[in-house]
Amino acid sequence: MLQIDKTDLTRHHTPSGFSDRFALALVRGLGALARTLFGRRYGNRTIVLETIAAVPGMVAATILHLKCLRRLQDDRGWVRSLMDEAETQRTHLMVFVSLDRPNGFERVLILLAQGLFYNTHFLICLFSPRTAHRIAGYFAEDAVRGYGEYLQEIDAGRRENPPTPDLAIAYWNLSPDARLRDAIVAMQEDEAIHRDINHSFATVLSEGRDLPAPPTPIL
Ligand SMILES: [Fe+2]
Repeated sequence: MLQIDKTDLTRHHTPSGFSDRFALALVRGLGALARTLFGRRYGNRTIVLETIAAVPGMVAATILHLKCLRRLQDDRGWVRSLMDEAETQRTHLMVFVSLDRPNGFERVLILLAQGLFYNTHFLICLFSPRTAHRIAGYFAEDAVRGYGEYLQEIDAGRRENPPTPDLAIAYWNLSPDARLRDAIVAMQEDEAIHRDINHSFATVLSEGRDLPAPPTPIL
Protein backbone atom coordinates (compact mmCIF):
# COMPACT_ATOMS: atom_id res chain seq x y z
CA MET A 1 0.00 0.00 0.00
CA LEU A 2 1.26 3.49 -0.84
CA GLN A 3 2.08 5.68 2.13
CA ILE A 4 1.40 9.39 1.75
CA ASP A 5 2.90 12.09 3.96
CA LYS A 6 0.79 15.17 3.32
CA THR A 7 2.92 17.23 5.68
CA ASP A 8 5.95 17.06 3.36
CA LEU A 9 5.39 20.15 1.24
CA THR A 10 8.81 20.26 -0.43
CA ARG A 11 8.98 16.86 -2.10
CA HIS A 12 10.01 16.93 -5.76
CA HIS A 13 10.28 13.99 -8.12
CA THR A 14 13.57 14.26 -10.00
CA PRO A 15 12.77 13.52 -13.65
CA SER A 16 14.39 10.50 -15.26
CA GLY A 17 13.91 9.78 -18.93
CA PHE A 18 12.08 11.58 -21.71
CA SER A 19 8.58 10.96 -20.32
CA ASP A 20 9.37 12.66 -17.00
CA ARG A 21 11.22 15.56 -18.62
CA PHE A 22 8.35 16.13 -21.07
CA ALA A 23 5.87 16.16 -18.17
CA LEU A 24 7.95 18.63 -16.15
CA ALA A 25 8.54 20.92 -19.15
CA LEU A 26 4.82 20.96 -19.95
CA VAL A 27 3.83 21.82 -16.37
CA ARG A 28 6.55 24.49 -16.06
CA GLY A 29 5.47 25.98 -19.39
CA LEU A 30 1.82 26.19 -18.34
CA GLY A 31 2.84 27.59 -14.94
CA ALA A 32 4.95 30.29 -16.57
CA LEU A 33 2.04 31.14 -18.90
CA ALA A 34 -0.32 31.44 -15.92
CA ARG A 35 2.13 33.69 -14.03
CA THR A 36 2.54 35.89 -17.12
CA LEU A 37 -1.23 36.21 -17.55
CA PHE A 38 -2.15 36.71 -13.89
CA GLY A 39 0.96 37.91 -12.04
CA ARG A 40 0.08 38.21 -8.34
CA ARG A 41 -3.68 37.90 -8.86
CA TYR A 42 -3.62 34.60 -7.01
CA GLY A 43 -7.39 34.19 -6.75
CA ASN A 44 -7.96 34.52 -10.50
CA ARG A 45 -4.90 32.42 -11.32
CA THR A 46 -6.07 29.72 -8.92
CA ILE A 47 -9.57 29.61 -10.43
CA VAL A 48 -8.21 29.02 -13.94
CA LEU A 49 -5.60 26.48 -12.79
CA GLU A 50 -8.12 24.53 -10.71
CA THR A 51 -10.34 24.10 -13.77
CA ILE A 52 -7.31 22.36 -15.33
CA ALA A 53 -6.24 20.48 -12.18
CA ALA A 54 -9.63 18.78 -11.91
CA VAL A 55 -9.22 17.13 -15.33
CA PRO A 56 -6.43 14.50 -14.96
CA GLY A 57 -8.12 12.52 -12.17
CA MET A 58 -11.35 12.12 -14.15
CA VAL A 59 -9.49 11.28 -17.38
CA ALA A 60 -7.34 8.67 -15.61
CA ALA A 61 -10.39 7.20 -13.88
CA THR A 62 -12.26 6.92 -17.19
CA ILE A 63 -9.39 5.27 -19.04
CA LEU A 64 -8.59 2.88 -16.17
CA HIS A 65 -12.29 1.98 -15.86
CA LEU A 66 -12.48 1.14 -19.57
CA LYS A 67 -9.21 -0.80 -19.42
CA CYS A 68 -10.48 -2.90 -16.51
CA LEU A 69 -13.68 -3.64 -18.43
CA ARG A 70 -11.76 -4.68 -21.55
CA ARG A 71 -9.29 -6.86 -19.68
CA LEU A 72 -11.84 -8.21 -17.18
CA GLN A 73 -9.57 -6.94 -14.35
CA ASP A 74 -10.27 -5.51 -10.92
CA ASP A 75 -9.26 -1.86 -10.49
CA ARG A 76 -8.07 -2.45 -6.87
CA GLY A 77 -9.98 0.67 -5.83
CA TRP A 78 -8.09 3.09 -8.05
CA VAL A 79 -11.04 4.29 -10.14
CA ARG A 80 -12.76 5.62 -7.00
CA SER A 81 -9.50 7.10 -5.72
CA LEU A 82 -8.89 8.96 -8.99
CA MET A 83 -12.48 10.22 -9.09
CA ASP A 84 -12.06 11.45 -5.51
CA GLU A 85 -9.04 13.43 -6.72
CA ALA A 86 -11.16 15.10 -9.41
CA GLU A 87 -13.88 15.89 -6.86
CA THR A 88 -11.38 17.39 -4.43
CA GLN A 89 -9.98 19.64 -7.17
CA ARG A 90 -13.50 20.71 -8.13
CA THR A 91 -14.13 21.61 -4.48
CA HIS A 92 -10.98 23.76 -4.48
CA LEU A 93 -12.44 25.59 -7.48
CA MET A 94 -15.83 26.05 -5.77
CA VAL A 95 -14.16 27.64 -2.73
CA PHE A 96 -12.50 30.30 -4.86
CA VAL A 97 -15.47 31.02 -7.11
CA SER A 98 -17.62 31.54 -4.01
CA LEU A 99 -15.23 34.38 -3.08
CA ASP A 100 -14.60 35.88 -6.49
CA ARG A 101 -16.13 35.41 -9.93
CA PRO A 102 -13.90 35.16 -13.02
CA ASN A 103 -14.22 37.98 -15.55
CA GLY A 104 -15.18 37.54 -19.20
CA PHE A 105 -11.59 37.06 -20.37
CA GLU A 106 -11.02 34.37 -17.75
CA ARG A 107 -14.25 32.56 -18.66
CA VAL A 108 -13.11 32.39 -22.30
CA LEU A 109 -9.66 31.25 -21.17
CA ILE A 110 -11.24 28.49 -19.05
CA LEU A 111 -13.30 27.35 -22.02
CA LEU A 112 -10.33 27.22 -24.39
CA ALA A 113 -8.00 25.66 -21.81
CA GLN A 114 -10.47 22.91 -20.97
CA GLY A 115 -11.10 22.02 -24.60
CA LEU A 116 -7.39 21.88 -25.36
CA PHE A 117 -6.20 20.28 -22.14
CA TYR A 118 -8.93 17.64 -21.76
CA ASN A 119 -8.45 16.25 -25.26
CA THR A 120 -4.65 16.44 -25.16
CA HIS A 121 -4.47 14.85 -21.72
CA PHE A 122 -6.90 12.10 -22.76
CA LEU A 123 -4.61 11.13 -25.66
CA ILE A 124 -1.50 11.28 -23.46
CA CYS A 125 -3.21 9.12 -20.81
CA LEU A 126 -4.41 6.66 -23.46
CA PHE A 127 -0.99 6.15 -25.04
CA SER A 128 1.29 6.84 -22.04
CA PRO A 129 -0.51 6.69 -18.68
CA ARG A 130 2.87 6.98 -16.98
CA THR A 131 3.41 10.40 -18.57
CA ALA A 132 -0.15 11.47 -17.72
CA HIS A 133 0.30 10.65 -14.03
CA ARG A 134 3.70 12.35 -13.98
CA ILE A 135 2.06 15.48 -15.42
CA ALA A 136 -0.58 15.32 -12.65
CA GLY A 137 2.18 14.84 -10.06
CA TYR A 138 4.11 17.89 -11.28
CA PHE A 139 0.89 19.92 -11.45
CA ALA A 140 0.31 19.06 -7.79
CA GLU A 141 3.90 20.03 -6.91
CA ASP A 142 3.26 23.39 -8.56
CA ALA A 143 -0.03 23.77 -6.68
CA VAL A 144 1.69 23.05 -3.33
CA ARG A 145 4.14 25.86 -4.12
CA GLY A 146 1.38 28.18 -5.38
CA TYR A 147 -0.70 27.74 -2.23
CA GLY A 148 2.47 28.33 -0.18
CA GLU A 149 2.90 31.68 -1.95
CA TYR A 150 -0.77 32.50 -1.32
CA LEU A 151 -0.33 31.77 2.40
CA GLN A 152 2.76 34.02 2.49
CA GLU A 153 0.76 36.82 0.87
CA ILE A 154 -1.98 36.46 3.51
CA ASP A 155 0.54 36.30 6.37
CA ALA A 156 2.25 39.44 5.05
CA GLY A 157 -1.09 41.26 4.96
CA ARG A 158 -1.00 41.71 1.18
CA ARG A 159 -4.04 39.47 0.62
CA GLU A 160 -7.37 39.45 2.40
CA ASN A 161 -8.23 36.57 4.70
CA PRO A 162 -12.05 36.55 4.75
CA PRO A 163 -14.21 33.99 6.57
CA THR A 164 -14.01 30.73 4.66
CA PRO A 165 -17.13 29.67 2.68
CA ASP A 166 -19.52 27.21 4.33
CA LEU A 167 -18.77 24.54 1.71
CA ALA A 168 -15.10 24.56 2.78
CA ILE A 169 -16.07 24.23 6.45
CA ALA A 170 -18.24 21.24 5.60
CA TYR A 171 -15.77 19.59 3.21
CA TRP A 172 -12.68 19.79 5.45
CA ASN A 173 -14.55 19.77 8.75
CA LEU A 174 -13.09 23.16 9.70
CA SER A 175 -14.17 25.16 12.74
CA PRO A 176 -17.19 27.46 12.16
CA ASP A 177 -14.99 30.57 12.50
CA ALA A 178 -12.37 29.31 10.02
CA ARG A 179 -10.81 31.83 7.64
CA LEU A 180 -9.72 31.41 4.02
CA ARG A 181 -6.19 30.69 5.26
CA ASP A 182 -7.42 27.51 6.98
CA ALA A 183 -9.04 26.28 3.76
CA ILE A 184 -5.86 27.01 1.79
CA VAL A 185 -3.81 24.97 4.28
CA ALA A 186 -6.25 22.07 3.74
CA MET A 187 -6.03 22.49 -0.04
CA GLN A 188 -2.24 22.52 0.08
CA GLU A 189 -2.33 19.21 1.97
CA ASP A 190 -4.72 17.80 -0.65
CA GLU A 191 -2.25 18.76 -3.37
CA ALA A 192 0.61 17.08 -1.48
CA ILE A 193 -1.47 13.89 -1.39
CA HIS A 194 -2.28 14.12 -5.12
CA ARG A 195 1.40 14.76 -5.84
CA ASP A 196 2.51 11.61 -4.05
CA ILE A 197 -0.29 9.44 -5.45
CA ASN A 198 0.35 10.45 -9.05
CA HIS A 199 4.13 10.24 -8.84
CA SER A 200 3.85 6.80 -7.22
CA PHE A 201 1.38 5.72 -9.89
CA ALA A 202 3.73 6.92 -12.67
CA THR A 203 6.69 5.13 -11.10
CA VAL A 204 4.77 1.88 -10.73
CA LEU A 205 3.69 2.04 -14.38
CA SER A 206 7.21 2.88 -15.59
CA GLU A 207 8.56 -0.18 -13.75
CA GLY A 208 5.85 -2.43 -15.21
CA ARG A 209 4.61 -3.43 -11.75
CA ASP A 210 1.03 -4.15 -10.68
CA LEU A 211 -0.89 -1.29 -9.15
CA PRO A 212 -0.69 -1.24 -5.35
CA ALA A 213 -3.79 -0.61 -3.27
CA PRO A 214 -4.73 3.10 -3.02
CA PRO A 215 -2.80 5.09 -0.41
CA THR A 216 -3.62 5.85 3.18
CA PRO A 217 -2.60 9.42 4.09
CA ILE A 218 -0.49 9.86 7.24
CA LEU A 219 -2.62 12.15 9.44
FE1 LIG B 1 -6.41 22.12 -6.36
